Parts: sequence; C-alpha cells; structure tokens
Amino acid sequence: MSIVVYLGDDAETRDWVRLLSGLLPEFEVRDFDDPGDLAAVEYAVVWAPPAGGIASFPNIKAVVSVGAGVDHVLRDPELPKHLPILRTTGPDMIQRLREYVALHVLTHHRDLAVTDEFQSRAHWQQIVTPVAGKRRVGIMGLGQIARACAATLVSLGFDVAGWSRSGGAVEDVTVFAGKDALPDFLARTEILVCLLPLTAETRDILNAETFSQLPKGARLINAGRGGHLVEADLLAALSEGQLAGATLDVFRTEPLPPDHPFWKHPAIRVTPHIASYIDAGTGAAVIAANIRQFEATGTCEAIADAARGY
Ligand code: GLV
Repeated sequence: MSIVVYLGDDAETRDWVRLLSGLLPEFEVRDFDDPGDLAAVEYAVVWAPPAGGIASFPNIKAVVSVGAGVDHVLRDPELPKHLPILRTTGPDMIQRLREYVALHVLTHHRDLAVTDEFQSRAHWQQIVTPVAGKRRVGIMGLGQIARACAATLVSLGFDVAGWSRSGGAVEDVTVFAGKDALPDFLARTEILVCLLPLTAETRDILNAETFSQLPKGARLINAGRGGHLVEADLLAALSEGQLAGATLDVFRTEPLPPDHPFWKHPAIRVTPHIASYIDAGTGAAVIAANIRQFEATGTCEAIADAARGY
C-alpha cells in the first residue's frame, strides 16, 4: 500500500515524501508523478493536483488536502464522487493566519499607507486614528481558523463581528448568520476580512453589491480565495472611493500575472498567498495522525463535507 504526494514543486514534494515516509513506515510514500503500482495507492496527499490524476488510482481511500481549503481538490471534474477529503490545519498554520490578519487589520486601522506616502515626501504630519475599540472589523467565515483570528482581534481591543452561513456563538464577537443577515453585518463593518471557504455559494461574494453595503471608505482584506473576489468590482469600488484600500493574498490566477493591475495599484497591497502556510515539518505530523485515525476508524475529524464544499 502506498501514499502519493503532489505539491506542484519538486523540492517541496521530495521533502514531504521523506517526512511522511519516516512517520508512516507501513506505507510506501512516492511522488504523485511516479506512483509505481496505481492499484497500491490508498492516499493522495495533494495541493492543486492535476485534473484526472486522482481518478487514476482505483483503490484510493481518501485524498488529503495540504491546506484547510479543499476547493483545489474538488475542482477536478474527474474526482471520484464520495471520496473522503481530509483537510489539514494545525497550530502553526492557525498562528500564521492570526499574525497575517492582525498585521493587515492594524495596517488599515492605523492608515499606514498614508504615513508611508508622507515619508516618501519627507513630510511630517501626524494622523490620529480611532482606538481599536471604535473600529468595527467584520470577519466573513467562522470556522476554526476564523474564530482564532477573531479572538486575536478581540484581544487587541477591536469591535469584532463575524458572518457565516450557519453562525454559532463566538465569545466577544457579534455573530451574523445566513444570507439575510449579510446586509446588517456589512453595514457595521469598516474593515472586512474574508476567510471563507470557496464554494458555489461564496464564489464572487466580494462584489459591487457587497462593497456598496459597507460604509464608505471601508477596507478589504481577502485571505480566503481569489474566486471570492470580482476583480473589476474591486477596482471600481476603489476608484469611486467606496473602498479606501485592499490587502489581497489570494487571486483568481496564481501566480498573479506580472501585468495585472493589482500589482501597481496605489490602494492595493498584494501578498503572494502567504497569509498562512503548512510547512512540511509540522504539517506531515498532522497528516500522519489524520491518516492513522482514518485507517483505524474509517473516519476522521478532519473530513471535509464535499457537498458543502469545505
Ligand atoms: C491555504 O490557502 C489553505 O487552504 O490552507
């Protein structure tokens, strides 16, 4: 029995193969592109695998996403239906995202772009921004990772709300649940942070109508997926002043093409899908434990709900 690994980068794949081999000696761990006996493959540990690849393993038991999101697996039209998909999170991954969200919320909150512009002109001017308690931050998504980010923002003193499909109480966070509550959530949100999974329901959710419901001059941070954002609507909202700035970590096309207007836009900060990251060192241990649990019990807490899309 074997496990195949696909990370889209040879050196990274080799690293994961080596670590998983050490942690799961009962399996042969191989590169997805050199799988050996296809019938022996029981697990595929992947990030954005090529379409049709997983369907070539007739006895596969589960796909393991090297990431919290599973959209990069589900987008394969040939993916066998009902194949369990295990998500991967872990303390390092959550910690990185907390850092990213705190950093960029604070950057918008304290108007750092304005101060940077002053510095570029050797211009001394003090700007005073409200204290965090007077800044209303709204997080779209209330999964495990988003809740941790909300707690970080609460600990910094921000007035935090969260919105998701199904809601659920979160300490010190005002929760809005479901489509009908979205307008009220948006109306009170000055800094909008998208941490949603990408599903049929959330695709294109960051659009002109959404932006128009935010207070004028609101900011956007998208660390969900590029597919959440209607890019032309963001550019229009920025040029109309409806939005005052955006921080984007994820894009419809990654890597972001060099001639894309986002790169040089004065009100957009681009980061190259680094809001979080699962490094092989800690990630392989999480994945090995999940595979062991799945082997032993036929299920696992990390199983995504393919019908919901996350
Ligand atoms: C990263 O984008 C993830 O899904 O974990």
